[in-house]
Amino acid sequence: MGQRIPEETVEHIRRSVDIVDIIQQYVSLKKRGRNYFGLCPFHGEKTPSFSVSPEKQIYHCFGCGAGGNVFSFLMDIEGITFIDAVKRLAPRANVDLSHIADHSTAEQTETSVMIAAHELLKKFYHHLLMHTNEGEEALSYLLHRGFTREIIEQFEIGYALPSWNAAVTFLTNKGFSLPLMERAGLIVRKSGEDSYFDRFRHRIMFPIHNHHGETVAFSGRALGNEDPKYLNSPETPIFNKRNILYHFHEARVPMRQKQQVVLFEGFADVIAAVQAGISHAVATMGTALSEEQARMLRRNASSVIVCYDGDRAGIDAALRASETLTEAGCYVKVAMIPDGLDPDEYVRKYGADRFRHHVLDASLSLTAFKLEYLKRGRHLQNESERLRYIEDAVKEISRLSNAIEADYYLRQLADEFSISMDALREQMTLHGKKQQTERKHERRETVILPAKAKLLPAFQKAERMLIAHMLRDKAIALTVQETIEGAFNIEEHRAIVAYLYAFYEEGHEPDVSSLLERIHDPQLKRIVTELSMMPMNEDISSAELQDYIQCVLNYPKEQLLKQKEAQLREAERQKDYERAKRIASEIIAMRKSLHFGRRGING
Ligand code: CTP
Ligand code: MN
Repeated sequence: MGQRIPEETVEHIRRSVDIVDIIQQYVSLKKRGRNYFGLCPFHGEKTPSFSVSPEKQIYHCFGCGAGGNVFSFLMDIEGITFIDAVKRLAPRANVDLSHIADHSTAEQTETSVMIAAHELLKKFYHHLLMHTNEGEEALSYLLHRGFTREIIEQFEIGYALPSWNAAVTFLTNKGFSLPLMERAGLIVRKSGEDSYFDRFRHRIMFPIHNHHGETVAFSGRALGNEDPKYLNSPETPIFNKRNILYHFHEARVPMRQKQQVVLFEGFADVIAAVQAGISHAVATMGTALSEEQARMLRRNASSVIVCYDGDRAGIDAALRASETLTEAGCYVKVAMIPDGLDPDEYVRKYGADRFRHHVLDASLSLTAFKLEYLKRGRHLQNESERLRYIEDAVKEISRLSNAIEADYYLRQLADEFSISMDALREQMTLHGKKQQTERKHERRETVILPAKAKLLPAFQKAERMLIAHMLRDKAIALTVQETIEGAFNIEEHRAIVAYLYAFYEEGHEPDVSSLLERIHDPQLKRIVTELSMMPMNEDISSAELQDYIQCVLNYPKEQLLKQKEAQLREAERQKDYERAKRIASEIIAMRKSLHFGRRGING
């Protein structure tokens, strides 16, 4: 398989697209000075430290260190290979790469076969449900539950026969290897034997898609009360529950348009919501919402309405999901379903309009929800319970960083219980002080990155400054190559300059985005993008340049000198004057060989 894309083609494609256009499809960017800034899609944050340079065609996050060019951005955000990232952008450069297969390694070929099997099996299950006598019972179950034929078609719901080998036979006939199908989670191997049986039997089959819309798993619901109610595909190379959300692929566009998404616990809830006209709906896979899933949502919408079951377990899960979402930087609202119903039951019982207006539109901010939640199980007519509630409520309100918001909830509390605002404010000041010191501690830890840069030792700072200039200026790189060569003291820096010398030797002009193409180590990529995006004065005098060079060259000598001085002290302590004298003269010779720059060794 001719799987390599010629380097010139890659270059041509990279130059034909603007990284700002591509990143803007995932992150809202605002221009500030020469660069664009936005919330980093690779880690949860509330203030933008993700920057994109249109001149250099690279991005870098000063918060988490992520960085690279347009291809690495697509690879990381979509979880695709380099080849796929290049292929994705090829049409924008009017290049046809359709002859290149999507996946380049054997492992990736396996995953595409697994996906192909899921796609075919999905159609098979769907056909059984819609058009066969065997599927009648399942179909009437769904219709009775209120699923329409259109929605069944839309979600491609199917039915697995009550057979031990229907899928095994189907897959064999289509030429799939059974061991591979076992690893794909579709069939199960009989213990100690070389034969296989169907994983899903007599179940309603919900296909699960990844974010490209490929079928990667199934969830099979029992028709009656058999256990388990839902049987899911196991974790496989193509299915990882932590980073897949049900219906995400279809919900993405409406979600981005509305900048809002409704998060449910169950598939049935999503389907009922879509049937009711709420298309920006997704669900987790029967597991707690993961950080990855929260970030997927954050990248596409600014606010999330958590709409879980109205029972105790649902409320606890909603609070946990809300924490995860808040940490990822989402604005969270919580919709409460009355009467202990789940969303699906509510929609079917009261209809779409009422669900929209009485549940979604009436959803509460997280704080308001918590204040409601604190009331549960308390008898507020009883004075001491009421006081305890007020105290807990004030504590919750004091956690808000926005003073106007805090005041709003305090006022509500004051009205509800006829207490003076002054009394509540006083109570809140008490909690507020505690909170502030806690928050200060947090902040100290998170700001470590920029603070650390200031505290770097002189030689490391000098190496960073040199590389920053070398990336921008070929002549400086040449001067450094003639003086320091590869003698940088930090291993990563040695690797970077080696790439850089080779890049210039091949005749290229300064171009970080193109340089990054050759560097595969993510840690090196981070450093290169950070140094490229570092604000700095691009004019450097030759004296300054010499200072940096000297500082780098002196460092190992200084280290050696320190060792010798320690040895000297040790010899003197042991009264070994002969040895002390020898070491002392070595030290003098070493000192002479140290070149001091204009500002001395401390730069
Ligand atoms: N779930 C699961 N395995 C189970 C039970 C539930 O994976 N044995 C997951 C499914 O993703 C399900 C979600 O948890 O959609 C919510 O569970 P539950 O509320 O019990 O299911 P419902 O969505 O209400 O399903 P139904 O309405 O069909 O009973
Ligand atoms: Mn249900």
